[in-house]
Parts: sequence; C-alpha cells; structure tokens
Amino acid sequence: MIYLDNAATTYPKPKSVYDKTLEHMKLRGGNPGRGSHALSLAAAETVYDCRHEIASLFGIDSPESVIFTLNTTHALNTVIKGVLRRGDHVLISDLEHNSVYRPIYRLAQEGFIKYSVFHSFAGKEHTDADIISDILSHLTLRTRLIVCTHASNICSATLPIKKIGELCRHRGIFFCVDAAQSAGHMPINLPDSGIDALCAPGHKGLYGPQGSGIMILGKDIQLSTLTEGGNGINSLEGLMPEVTPERYEAGTLPAPAISGLLAGVREIRSLTPDRIHTHECELFRYARDRLSDIGATVYAPECEGSVILFGLDGVSADVLGEHLNSCGICVRSGYHCAALAHRALGTPPGGAVRASFGIYNTKKDIDALVDVTEKALR
Ligand code: ALA
Repeated sequence: MIYLDNAATTYPKPKSVYDKTLEHMKLRGGNPGRGSHALSLAAAETVYDCRHEIASLFGIDSPESVIFTLNTTHALNTVIKGVLRRGDHVLISDLEHNSVYRPIYRLAQEGFIKYSVFHSFAGKEHTDADIISDILSHLTLRTRLIVCTHASNICSATLPIKKIGELCRHRGIFFCVDAAQSAGHMPINLPDSGIDALCAPGHKGLYGPQGSGIMILGKDIQLSTLTEGGNGINSLEGLMPEVTPERYEAGTLPAPAISGLLAGVREIRSLTPDRIHTHECELFRYARDRLSDIGATVYAPECEGSVILFGLDGVSADVLGEHLNSCGICVRSGYHCAALAHRALGTPPGGAVRASFGIYNTKKDIDALVDVTEKALR
C-alpha cells in the first residue's frame, strides 16, 4: 500500500509515537489534573511536557498558551464563537475548509454576524499585495475577526499570514489562523506573526494520534468559552476559571494521544519543519511534472508544498480516486470538505483527486501514483 493521504491524517507515524501512546496507557494511565496520586501526576507531567514542546516548536515561551482540543475544528469553533459578538463582521478567504466556513455560515444564517470572502488568487498570477488590497476592500467598521487558512487542504496554495497579521494588528482586528495543513510542514514562528489564535491538528503534520488538536492563544487574550465543565481547579465556582489553559479544557484530556503527540513533535523538531518543507516541495515538483507529462490537469501548479490536486479530462474524480485506491494508492477524491476552495480553483463537478505527502514518502511513491493514473487514462 502506498499512502498519499497525509492531508487527511499522516500515516505511518514515527515508531516513538506508537510506543509512547501505548506506554502512557500502561504506565501513566491516571487522569491528568484530577488527583494527586502518582498516576494522575505522571499523566499531568506528560501533558505539561507536550505543551512545552509545542510552545518551543512555534517559538513561544508560554506553554500555558497551548490549549488542547479534540481536533482543529474544535479549536476553530472555540475561537470563532468565543470572539464574535452580535452584529460583527468577519472575513474569511476563498480557500477555507468547512471547519471555518460552516461555523461562520451558520452564525450568518441566524443573523448573528455578517461575513465576506476575500480572494486568495490561488492558481492565478498574483502578489501578496493583491491579497492584502482585496482584504482591505472588504473591511468594515464592524470587522472584528479575520480567520483564514495558512495552507489549503486541496492544493499547496498558502496565504501571506505574516502580512495579514500586520494588517490585523494595525487595525485592532482579531486574527485566527487555521494551520491544519501547515503546522509541522513548514516553519511557523508565532511571536512575529501577528496571530492571535492558531488552530492545528495533532494528527497531521505533528504526527500525533487522532484525538489531539491544539489552539494557541496570544498572551492576555481571553475568549468566552464554548464548553464548560470540570477541569480539576476552582471546583467550588460555577464559572470556568479565567486562567489559560484550564479555561478552555473542560472534561478529561486525551492524555494517551497527547503523549503520542509529544513524541511526534519531538521527531518534527529534530527533522525541522524547514527540511520537511524542502522534502515535500521536491516531491510536489516531481509529481507535478510527471502528472503533467501524462496529460493530467494539475490545479495551482505553481504553488509547491505537501498537497497536489489533479484530474484527467473525461474521467470523474470519484472514478479515478476509486481506481487508485483499489490499486493500493491511498488518495482522497471529491471536494475534500472545501467547496469554497474547489470553486476558487475552478475544478469540474465532482471535484478532483488529491495526493498529499508526508515525511516518509519518496519519489517511488509518486512513480506508482503516476503509473496507475496513466494506465487508467489508457
Ligand atoms: N481536513 C482533512 C482533509 O482535508 C480531513 O482531508
């Protein structure tokens, strides 16, 4: 089997991730923060170590700013619903996944907020200044939040988050970044990014198990809470505590997944996101050239990274995707929960096929993908 669906979840994971997840369940299986016995303390120590490791990965010196969530969608919902007030305006990009689009759409449908969509110009010649000027053209006096993806989940287009962060900082707009496809895949340094909230999965570019997501909040930011419940502190109070991270972590944390995530982040830090990005860009260029040579359409071919989107004239994405999967090449076809982005790229009805790379993929995997695609074409 050749796994090219790393944008959905990375596979396989480094051996240390499997080992540490299991070891945690066997040896540190208490509930973190819910008692002072040895097993609870051991679990809490792992959780703290993971916050620390993630903080270091993103260049921040405050591990308490790292909040564990179930996944990126949970983190994004927490930020979006924690920031917005009735009557606000919010700006999203045309590359958004449903994890951003759907919470915003629902709030807008209910008349709570208004939203606008700015252009990424993905797949078209453009500069960062074009994106910034499009953002500026959509701002209103009521714009409280810009929330956008860093890297698309359907192609390798990215948004200039540092420049958007500067704009937000100057205008007092809250800036939330969906790093579902960029965390671990490329360097992100939070202190100089202007980002107020970063949402990311543990199970993609950070190589942890599923069930671990993160939300990193800027210092002094306090959101209203999405979920309330126990967290082991201030138990006599009816309100959630004001302190981060406990304010946002209601209920038992997925400590075994966090333990695996700690191992994953350690691997990523030793490989470095910079080198991972170089590796994935090389695979992208190789795949783009080989797929183009056999007559496939590659969408946004100039944007290099871990995700490539392609199609064959006259063959539906579902049929091609099913064929590849049945030949042991794991890809994802269709709309990838990102209808806005498919519209922006102009894919045909039914969408396109996505192959996405990780640290273990090689050019041989691309050769297999292209060979099977070529046979399907014939
Ligand atoms: N968001 C994930 C994907 O793009 C699941 O496949």
